[in-house]
Amino acid sequence: MLVLGIESSCDETGVALFDTEAGLLGHALHSQIGLHAEYGGVVPELASRDHVRKALPLLRSVLDESDVKSCDINGVAYTAGPGLIGALMVGASIGRSLAWSWGVPAVGVHHMEGHLLAPMLETPAPEFPFVALLVSGGHTMLVRVDGVGAYRILGDTLDDAAGEAFDKTAKLLGLGYPGGPALARLAEQGDPGRFRFPRPMTDRPGLDFSFSGLKTFALTTSQTQGGDEQTRADIARAFQDAVVDTLVIKCRRALRQSGVSRLVVAGGVGANRALRAGLDALVDELGGEVFYPRLEFCTDNGAMIAYAGACRLCAGQQQGLAIEVRPRWSLEELEAVTA
Ligand code: KG4
Ligand code: ZN
Repeated sequence: MLVLGIESSCDETGVALFDTEAGLLGHALHSQIGLHAEYGGVVPELASRDHVRKALPLLRSVLDESDVKSCDINGVAYTAGPGLIGALMVGASIGRSLAWSWGVPAVGVHHMEGHLLAPMLETPAPEFPFVALLVSGGHTMLVRVDGVGAYRILGDTLDDAAGEAFDKTAKLLGLGYPGGPALARLAEQGDPGRFRFPRPMTDRPGLDFSFSGLKTFALTTSQTQGGDEQTRADIARAFQDAVVDTLVIKCRRALRQSGVSRLVVAGGVGANRALRAGLDALVDELGGEVFYPRLEFCTDNGAMIAYAGACRLCAGQQQGLAIEVRPRWSLEELEAVTA
């Protein structure tokens, strides 16, 4: 089955073609980072309008590059939520309408299910069950995955997501938007011994996260210590060490508690090298395995939506003709897919 996937939940337009026999045939991405940079964050209305401009040209280029004709496509998957409502509506309207005009089924995909299943596009793919650490700009979650659609949320963030905390801390250190990668680069110049930030919520049981206090810690440290280049790097280092340590501690706990040995990392912060080093060391220590999607599939992309949609369409799930999105939608509400 050849499935077209469309992602438009936030500030990236992604289009991909996934074939259940041949694998990923092609994918393209347009990032709106430049569009939102001057505002220091995503402006929803600008995001929607840009998805309108980019979705069809991207689709045309993916079809051309993969030498696929629209009549070869057997199903369409689009991100139906969670995300920005206007942005979601663009992908859903285009996806649902194309499917109708081509006479093929369509399915609305949960964006986080896309992230959870992104490592399945790699070789070797993880076997079920696994524990997934989802760390993006909008989410920080630990999820037990027993199969496609069989998700149990083990831990969630009570306030800022890890990526959001990176971005906000980067902003107060005077770095551009999105600040995560820039903060990570600055942290490499930092002295790990100069400041020590707390590891939030690690001194009590449970798998939930809270990152908003770290940003305040960074702010007060920069106010009292000044803002010379080395101090900014030292603050970036202390911040990153605290986030990474906290995530590693909670992953250790999640793997121990669930008795699962496979860990999957997904979402934009999964690109962070210090985090990857920390998690590699953890699975070495525990004797498990860790799986990372390639960097371009850590962040938002169409391939993960095409893959997740293909799993659902193959199981006979499909959407009615209405164009519907769900800006708020829990992973635990999803229907399981039985192979
Ligand atoms: O998954 P994603 O593309 O978007 C959401 O669905 O939210 O993740 C984007 C987030 C941003 O907050 C960005 O700053 C962060 O991932 N990020 C990083 C790194 N690369 C991206 N954070 C820390 N270190 C990185 N290397
Ligand atoms: Zn995402």
